[in-house]
Amino acid sequence: MLMNRIGVILLAAGQGKRMRSSLPKVLHSLCGKPLFLHPLAVAQKLQPGKIVIVIGHGAESVQRSYVGTDVSWVIQEQQLGTGHAALCARTVFNDFSGDILILSGDVPLIMQSTLDAMIDMHRDQQAALTLMTAHLDDPKGYGRILRDDYGGISGIVEERDASERDKQIREVNAGVYVASADFLFAALERVKNHNQQGEYYLPDIVTIGLAQNQKIATFRVNDPREMMGINTREELAAMEKTLRERINGKWMEAGVTLKDPQTTYIDEGVTIGRDTLIGSNTHLRGRTTIGERCQIDGSAYLTDAELEDEVHLLFSVVITNSRIASGAIVGPFAHLRPGTALGRNVHIGNFVEAKQATIGDGTKANHLTYLGDCTIGRETNIGAGTITCNYDGFKKYRTTIGDRVQVGSDSTLIAPVSLGDDVYVATATTIRHDVPAGALVFNGREERVREGWTERKRDKMKGFKK
Ligand code: UD1
Ligand code: CA
Repeated sequence: MLMNRIGVILLAAGQGKRMRSSLPKVLHSLCGKPLFLHPLAVAQKLQPGKIVIVIGHGAESVQRSYVGTDVSWVIQEQQLGTGHAALCARTVFNDFSGDILILSGDVPLIMQSTLDAMIDMHRDQQAALTLMTAHLDDPKGYGRILRDDYGGISGIVEERDASERDKQIREVNAGVYVASADFLFAALERVKNHNQQGEYYLPDIVTIGLAQNQKIATFRVNDPREMMGINTREELAAMEKTLRERINGKWMEAGVTLKDPQTTYIDEGVTIGRDTLIGSNTHLRGRTTIGERCQIDGSAYLTDAELEDEVHLLFSVVITNSRIASGAIVGPFAHLRPGTALGRNVHIGNFVEAKQATIGDGTKANHLTYLGDCTIGRETNIGAGTITCNYDGFKKYRTTIGDRVQVGSDSTLIAPVSLGDDVYVATATTIRHDVPAGALVFNGREERVREGWTERKRDKMKGFKK
């Protein structure tokens, strides 16, 4: 029901001083995606009526990092605190009277099911404000939850303002809130900045609500790892590990074998088919998709790669923005650069580099070859040391090679040039002109032999030292 729709405020204006970075904190990458896009993706799953992102520090670059049009951006000119940040979003909620969920751009692992449960509880209890809490073994850095003798919440104290005794409290504020819009903005208006940091603290709406006899509820998150915030690079690394474990666990659950999950790095946007086997030190980045029954031996660095079923990547390959059809074998030590498309059962062997290369079914280039800006047909064999010379220092040119062509080792194809079907290129040929189908092409060079030459040379050079 539209009436029940929730609004979302995502706080992302802070600089993140503790990161010691020129990059705004929320743009630091977590498993291949800027930090704040993680909670944003979760918020979107709730199908909210409105999403407002409060930005400030590095506002332009933060805004540019998200391409969707389903959010409103609000600028917080000066970062005067989380309470001030949330208040900046008010203009966008003028005509809105439902509940508002507040998330932090630096709390990325929060799960949709947890938010659903929290919103349900908020509505069941008809609370004005519900805040998420967690019990931590090491609560350092978080705001602590103060409770009265009856166990009811009585306030939140920030680490910087906490007494030694308060610091012993292990129940912390997760920084996730649900509040009715009316209560929220009225309470935020009243927040003062009388604290250690001289900031307007969002959590202060708890005491303001209590003074007004509003119902304030707390929702305890089961797995505290979900609500971990990132303030330092060390926390970022720890969180990357947590998220990686979550992602790896998901793929193993879906039927993918990971030889060494500890050294398998899979970005969130990646998909992998069943019974695919992934060796150690494999990075699957960006929008990489991998089919079923593929085998990745190890040390692979794939970015936006598309592998159909039963592709075999031998040890050590780098593949960027390329497509590989089923049955192909690539590596070891191969580099497929952007715009490469391999047909079915293609073999790309050791020390082969391809770029903007379309290679037909069953074609092989097994050793030491550069295939740049070329189209190659089916069942062709590219001999060792073949080079497509695609660049004259000014422009790039294409090479076209037909079906069933035999390119002898150490051949040089100077683009633009085209070889018809069934051409036979003799070893060590330099080709400058198009070759018609079915032809043999070779460079007329006489082979000469001088018998006994080596011995005569050595005699002559006797007495000379290098
Ligand atoms: C905040 C809470 C703390 C809680 C913790 C949970 C406050 C005062 N404290 O502390 O109780 O335990 O989160 O992670 O809220 N931001 C702005 N504008 C500002 C300041 C911050 O947009 O002026 C944004 C930041 O970009 C960040 C979020 O608000 O995404 C939280 O700010 P941060 O400074 O990290 O708060 P914490 O000190 O972690
Ligand atoms: Ca934080």
